[in-house]
Amino acid sequence: MTQANDLKAWQQKAQAQTELVLERLLPSEHDKPAKLHEAMRYVTLGGGKRLRPLLVLAASELGDADNAAVEQAMGAIEMVHVYSLVHDDMPPMDNDSLRRGKPTCHVQYDEATALLVGDALQTQAFGVLSRATELPAARQLAMLSTLAKAGGSLGMAGGQAIDLANVGKTMNQAELEEMHGLKTGALIRAAVVLGALACPDLSDEQIVQLDQYAAKLGLAFQVVDDVLDCEADTATLGKTAGKDAGNDKPTYVKLMGLAEARAYAEKLVDEAVASLQPFGSKAAHLLWLAEFVTARKN
Ligand code: IPE
Ligand code: IPE
Ligand code: MG
Ligand code: MG
Ligand code: MG
Repeated sequence: MTQANDLKAWQQKAQAQTELVLERLLPSEHDKPAKLHEAMRYVTLGGGKRLRPLLVLAASELGDADNAAVEQAMGAIEMVHVYSLVHDDMPPMDNDSLRRGKPTCHVQYDEATALLVGDALQTQAFGVLSRATELPAARQLAMLSTLAKAGGSLGMAGGQAIDLANVGKTMNQAELEEMHGLKTGALIRAAVVLGALACPDLSDEQIVQLDQYAAKLGLAFQVVDDVLDCEADTATLGKTAGKDAGNDKPTYVKLMGLAEARAYAEKLVDEAVASLQPFGSKAAHLLWLAEFVTARKN
């Protein structure tokens, strides 16, 4: 097998593992309230690129990982991400009707259910992360606080607030960088840090080094999301194309144009990859995921 095929096979295996983990960690639709549980499973299972769980897994390959903690982190980060998508798509936010190629949660069910799906996925994520592992308690607490900070007002939710406050406005590059770093970068950084924290043998210095990779990657990811919103079609994206221009959102494409935004994302990915150098060949999957961020079609 070529190296490219090996990496593709790793991605598919990791995506299948993510699906199994989520299947196991989500409440059964046979438990009451059945509609809420069915909706939680509808939005979470069977879709998405699973980038954040794959980042958890790839980061955990750098050390001697506790497998239970790794799988809990894979599930928890995806649950918080999916909750952010469900709320992002609701009418007071981006008002989208398509996500992962299916009707959005509030369209398939109703707005109250979509609110509750987000609430329940978020708390489920923290419940999952607090389950038993073999990790030292301080490490497990660090995982919980990492996810809490990344999802909250100093992370994803804060970035979403800045996004909404700037509809129809012009933001400069420093302001956009801050917004993208929060609304999207924070959870991507948390994914990498969670995978590293699940390895008791990785030092604080190594985790800081990895966080530099993740910060660049998180920003690059949202710059590419802005580019794809303009470049790709709805069928490929699995969400409505042209939504940012339609909603008059501040984006990197609006700031610098398509070609320059893409070039900027590629520069960020190069910088991310440079931060992996001390980890050598153990970081092969983190390196490949960085390349995937700019190569992806959706
Ligand atoms: C979409 O994230 C929302 C952003 C943070 C840009 P993804 O592009 O990772 O969405 P899925 O999980 O693959 O559906
Ligand atoms: C969303 O950014 C970031 C989130 C926290 C969900 P976008 O609004 O650009 O994400 P998409 O394009 O709807 O997936
Ligand atoms: Mg949005
Ligand atoms: Mg959106
Ligand atoms: Mg977008």
